[in-house]
Amino acid sequence: MSLWTAPELRNATAGQLDSSLAVAGVSIDTRSLAPGDLFVALRDQRDGHDFVAEALRRGAAVAMVDHVPAGVPGDAPLLRVPDTLAGLAALGTAARARSRARFAAVTGSVGKTGTKDMLRLLLGALGPTHAAVASYNNHWGVPLTLARLPRDAAFAVIEIGMNNPGEIAPLARIAAPHAVAVTTVAEAHIGHMGSLAAVAEEKGSIALGLVPGGVAVLPRDSAFYARLVEIAHAAGAARVIGFGRDPAAEVRLLEAAIRPEGSTSCTIAVGQTSHQVVMPAMGLHHAENACCALAVVAALGLDVARAVPALAQYAPGAGRGAPREVAVPGGTALLIDESYNAAPPAMRAALQTLAERPGLRRIAVLGDMRELGTFSAELHANLAPVAALADLVFCCGPEMTALYDRLPANRRGAHAPDSAALGPLVKAALRPGDVVLVKGALGSRMALVVQALTETGS
Ligand SMILES: Nc1ncnc2c1ncn2[C@@H]1O[C@H](COP(=O)(O)OP(=O)(O)OP(=O)(O)O)[C@@H](O)[C@H]1O
Ligand SMILES: [Mg+2]
Repeated sequence: MSLWTAPELRNATAGQLDSSLAVAGVSIDTRSLAPGDLFVALRDQRDGHDFVAEALRRGAAVAMVDHVPAGVPGDAPLLRVPDTLAGLAALGTAARARSRARFAAVTGSVGKTGTKDMLRLLLGALGPTHAAVASYNNHWGVPLTLARLPRDAAFAVIEIGMNNPGEIAPLARIAAPHAVAVTTVAEAHIGHMGSLAAVAEEKGSIALGLVPGGVAVLPRDSAFYARLVEIAHAAGAARVIGFGRDPAAEVRLLEAAIRPEGSTSCTIAVGQTSHQVVMPAMGLHHAENACCALAVVAALGLDVARAVPALAQYAPGAGRGAPREVAVPGGTALLIDESYNAAPPAMRAALQTLAERPGLRRIAVLGDMRELGTFSAELHANLAPVAALADLVFCCGPEMTALYDRLPANRRGAHAPDSAALGPLVKAALRPGDVVLVKGALGSRMALVVQALTETGS
């Protein structure tokens, strides 16, 4: 079954298309393009128009463009639109309009992708489910995810993110979800947002996209819960479901623990029924995200008990906490690779998880957090007490000095200017049985430390 026929592409985008080809998928990147795809030439870091010839060579059925790029014949299968980003958004809107799926949209300061991937599993146990392959949550990621929605999907999960105020509501309106969720309100990207209260307002605005009768799933433990409830009701939410540890939460995290082999177990009560969850992922925050995800399943009016066993398949994405063994002189150590990213709440969650992890020595290797603006020094320094729960702490980067300087002397491993310099120092310090957490903003390139620790030889 095609994803889009030529008449559907023309109708959705009001574009010109002479070809009668149907397309099987939608691509914005020639490196992951599959033959038969519609290639959309977006302008991001590079202009996708420069890759149209290549896309057609690789078997794209049609390319959406706003002009005929140099080197592409005029009779090539082109869908001509005035603006390709608007064209993609129009396609997303058309996908939403024709779909009979139940939609869930997820936002929050951290935990969006984790919760989305959990929902993919949970809803997938109940019917054909569509969710993005990656963290596609911005002005092109949300329309792209919708444009890829198979005709027969029963459920769709849409991740919605933001860097600046005002970005969430328009994306939520395109997704027009039956349920929305705010995972967390915390200091991620706060440099652009000014205050946590502003972050809460922005996250809450996801409810503006709800269809009539829609349900908002909100973090009961957040200091901004009451405000989020107000925003949701003002936006037209028919019902609110609170999730979290608070006894007043409708979907409640009763307990969560890290098991010796690195998995996370938890008990989550939905109304009067308790559900047992074990996930092959190490982190107490996974339990919190699971609580949010179960609340969304409940919000959609679905059978939670039937969905829950699917979480046994949950494995976090690369650099998001997957444990692995690395060789050290005389044995092995357990490496927890959290090098994907770090916002203050994510750092805190990872350090708390490390502290709860049974093991001989627990070692934290931390790189700078980014996008914190004028709050940066304070937010780094505030992590010192939870970092000091580890036996030894290594840091790199200028921002991390604020944390490192506040550590007790017996917790200080080393501070280096950057991750390349830190890697060998950590490697030299490791002993058999150690548990090592590596975490920092993507820009801190903590993957270099992971690389140093996983390289064989010295
Ligand atoms: N509920 C949570 N509380 C605290 N930290 C969390 C939580 N969920 C995830 N994290 C941390 O945030 C990191 C990123 O998680 P995830 O990719 O799910 O977030 P995201 O909101 O999708 O991020 P992005 O803004 O990059 O799309 C994880 O590696 C983990 O360290
Ligand atoms: Mg994400």
